[in-house]
Amino acid sequence: MWNYKKISDGLNKNGYFVIKNYLSSKDLNIIKKSLIDSLNYIQPSKEKNLQKKYYEIKKFNKKLKGNWYDISKYNIDLLKTLHKNEMIEFVKKYFDSKVVYSGRPAIHVHDKTNDRNLLPHQETNQFAAYTLGLWIPIFDTNEKTGGLTVYEKSHAEGFFKHSLTPPPSFKKKKLWTNKFTNIDEKIYKKYRKRNLSIKKGDGVIFISSLIHSSFKNTDKKSVRIVITERFNPLKKLPYLQNVKAPMKIPYVGVDLNKIRD
Ligand SMILES: [Fe+2]
Repeated sequence: MWNYKKISDGLNKNGYFVIKNYLSSKDLNIIKKSLIDSLNYIQPSKEKNLQKKYYEIKKFNKKLKGNWYDISKYNIDLLKTLHKNEMIEFVKKYFDSKVVYSGRPAIHVHDKTNDRNLLPHQETNQFAAYTLGLWIPIFDTNEKTGGLTVYEKSHAEGFFKHSLTPPPSFKKKKLWTNKFTNIDEKIYKKYRKRNLSIKKGDGVIFISSLIHSSFKNTDKKSVRIVITERFNPLKKLPYLQNVKAPMKIPYVGVDLNKIRD
């Protein structure tokens, strides 16, 4: 049984809370097997190790590897484990809302190229202003494999201005997205930066206003695979209050601190 009070207190104090064994080893095996089966559908082999299989398929065909990544977030077993009853009940209690939406289930894959690491940002572009994020690595994450960086207690001052323009140091890099959301260095420098080491299957729950980013994978053989979701309550949700509001609150141009019920 989850101790809702302990989790809420942790979230309110630090902006995040780690749930041990959010996924059981059985859940983890089902997800990994499912991901390998899909990679084997692209090109079969005897490889049983998901990380090795990933690099094998990346070498075989980059586009199909990308397609695997895109379709994996619709994998039913993955959705089932992300949308655990305790988590849904916790979100309802935390926000005092009887309704919760799935904001964006996703799978994140960071390999040795580190070309998809994210700069410090808060979780925006959701249905509601305040949401709870969930981040679950399916392999252990640590200083070598890279992982999730949090800026402790940065959740307490509401939302900062975001930009979709990468900072000057990123100018020459080829980016995979044109929505490269980030906040000014002057803002996040004020907070204590912590690179989290999270064991496989443990889940990090975080408040959307917590500044977070990715840190680098330096182990060439490793690939970090993480499943995530954003739980959106029926609170501070402009789409159901304003006919002009888009379903998701835009990354820029809207002050999330001004959205009220
Ligand atoms: Fe994020």
